[in-house]
Amino acid sequence: MKSINKILFSALLLILSFAFQSEIFAQSEGGYDLNAVMKVMLVITIVMIALVMWLTIIYSEKNDLEGALFKAPFAKLNQMLNRSVPIEKEKDIMLDHDYDGIRELDNKIPPWFQFLFWGTIIWALIYLFVFHISGTGQLQDAEYKAEVQQAAFERELLVKSGAMINEETVTLATDAAALAEGKEIFAKNCVTCHAADGGGGVGPNLTDDYWIHGGGIKNIFKTIKYGVPAKGMITWQSQLDPAKMRSVASYILTLHGTKPAAPKAPQGTLWTEPKTDSTMTAKS
Ligand code: HEC
Repeated sequence: MKSINKILFSALLLILSFAFQSEIFAQSEGGYDLNAVMKVMLVITIVMIALVMWLTIIYSEKNDLEGALFKAPFAKLNQMLNRSVPIEKEKDIMLDHDYDGIRELDNKIPPWFQFLFWGTIIWALIYLFVFHISGTGQLQDAEYKAEVQQAAFERELLVKSGAMINEETVTLATDAAALAEGKEIFAKNCVTCHAADGGGGVGPNLTDDYWIHGGGIKNIFKTIKYGVPAKGMITWQSQLDPAKMRSVASYILTLHGTKPAAPKAPQGTLWTEPKTDSTMTAKS
């Protein structure tokens, strides 16, 4: 072996042994945790590198500049799939009829075609068994129904988690649990600026009929969610989930009409709850 090839060969062995011993493929807890796709890509890459190195070695060792060694397995595969008769032997399979000079060869059906033919039949039998006899496979409509059911289930979870609540869909919470949660959130996050009784301080009075950004559950939810950063009202959506923002907004509305100890003078415009549906804008 040429010395350069010896080096290449050692490198090849090194790569392969690294690949098969490395933690990358082990499922140890402390080691890497590559996902399946990454693993497959890695294996392909290693195989490609190994192949290129291997070919380099073969080509230069055997002086196989035409690539005959490389092509041999492909030619073999080709023959296996087609079983074609070489041109020089075609006269052996020539049929004896002759249509205006057109002759016919008695070729065998190529194996790839046989494979497809029998393959589809076998596949059909397996399919028939799985979907119509054993019943382990779901037919289209059963599969559809199962998916719809799953989607409904996921939707229910989403609704329960409050992820579907936004300023368009939010409704006033009236249950004690939500209001108690709202009260707790208010005490923890909001009293520094709005006072414990909602009378106001840095922030406006939340108990009166006047609102800078509109009253009603939807507007209040929206103000809490996006805040008014320029005026010192924090954007709460990164700290409170939608269900919590609904609770605290609903709690604020329970403070309406109460008499705070030191009420801040009304700011904004007089809010009257729209009769039909609550729109997003404040009424003046
Ligand atoms: C750092 C001080 C501060 C904190 C903390 C704070 N706010 Fe505010 N808030 C303000 C200010 C200032 C405004 C007025 C914004 C403006 O002038 O546009 C405001 C406005 C509001 C409004 C709108 C009032 C209106 O008239 O339209 C609501 C509702 C509100 N805050 C709720 C809350 C809730 C709920 C919390 C706690 C989760 C909270 N705020 C925490 C400072 C604060």
